Amino acid sequence: MTRHFLTLTDLTPDELGYLIQRAIELKTMLRNGQNHEPLKGKTLGMIFEKSSTRTRVSFEVAMTHFGGSSIFLSPRDTQLGRGEPIEDSARVLSRMVDAVMIRTFDHATLQTFADHSAVPVINALTDDFHPCQLLADMQTFVEHRGSIQGKKVVWVGDGNNMCASYINAANQFDFELVISCPDGFTPDNDLLGRYPERVSLEADVATAVQGAHLVVTDVWASMGQEDEQQTRLNAFEGYQVTPELMDKADPDALFMHCLPAHRGEEVSHEMMDDPRAVVWDEAENRLHAQKALLEFLLTGQH
Ligand code: CP
Ligand code: NVA
Repeated sequence: MTRHFLTLTDLTPDELGYLIQRAIELKTMLRNGQNHEPLKGKTLGMIFEKSSTRTRVSFEVAMTHFGGSSIFLSPRDTQLGRGEPIEDSARVLSRMVDAVMIRTFDHATLQTFADHSAVPVINALTDDFHPCQLLADMQTFVEHRGSIQGKKVVWVGDGNNMCASYINAANQFDFELVISCPDGFTPDNDLLGRYPERVSLEADVATAVQGAHLVVTDVWASMGQEDEQQTRLNAFEGYQVTPELMDKADPDALFMHCLPAHRGEEVSHEMMDDPRAVVWDEAENRLHAQKALLEFLLTGQH
């Protein structure tokens, strides 16, 4: 059976735990100059309908390290942008490449592609979820603080695709998630209500972060919401993560942001350079975590 990674719920908690440990191992192997090429001769197709720096580079480098290769596919210069049905693209591409990574708008597009693909499909961000980022975030927390099980994580800002993946992560990695969003920007109600024992809302950000072991935020206007930038700037006033806000959290609290960051909006300039911010490790770990994911999906190693 072909395994896909469309959301964190496609893998079991044990499999996710394995991936985090494996990512840490692969990072050490790389640091030690150890060659590891489990994907020799394999190709990853990479469909990007939205911009990317980290995701594109980390997947391409992952395939290079593993002895394989990757093909960047943009709608501007493939038939995807000229209306070839997604089902047909899935059938064709999966006869040529060994896995496909997709960054798109509508989550249903990704699902349709996966339904017609004979090879593993990876969600590299949709309007609804960003599970690859969560692998890197969980790895980063474990490296700095050990297991995240039972810890308190606070999401500040927009109830967006990253927030939705944190909701899934709360259940899969067994932590408490408090979501602090202004009215009208909370996550989808169905998802919000799915894990009531682990996930709750607290609109007052100062109250929400009390005792937090991890504080996370993201841009206020995601890709595709550029027209709402000004409205959102007003709506999110008071939701900026600053060193002063972090002082209300646990003394050992970490700060994460998937990047790119808008300094002066969701995060202050000082916060990005604060010792509690682990955003550069978090960005680097996209590489190691996705190597673990590719190895798992393509070789079945676990
Ligand atoms: N965090 C993240 O996915 O970054 P990119 O948009 O640069 O890929
Ligand atoms: N929520 C952001 C994440 C970017 C990595 C977006 O979707 O644009």
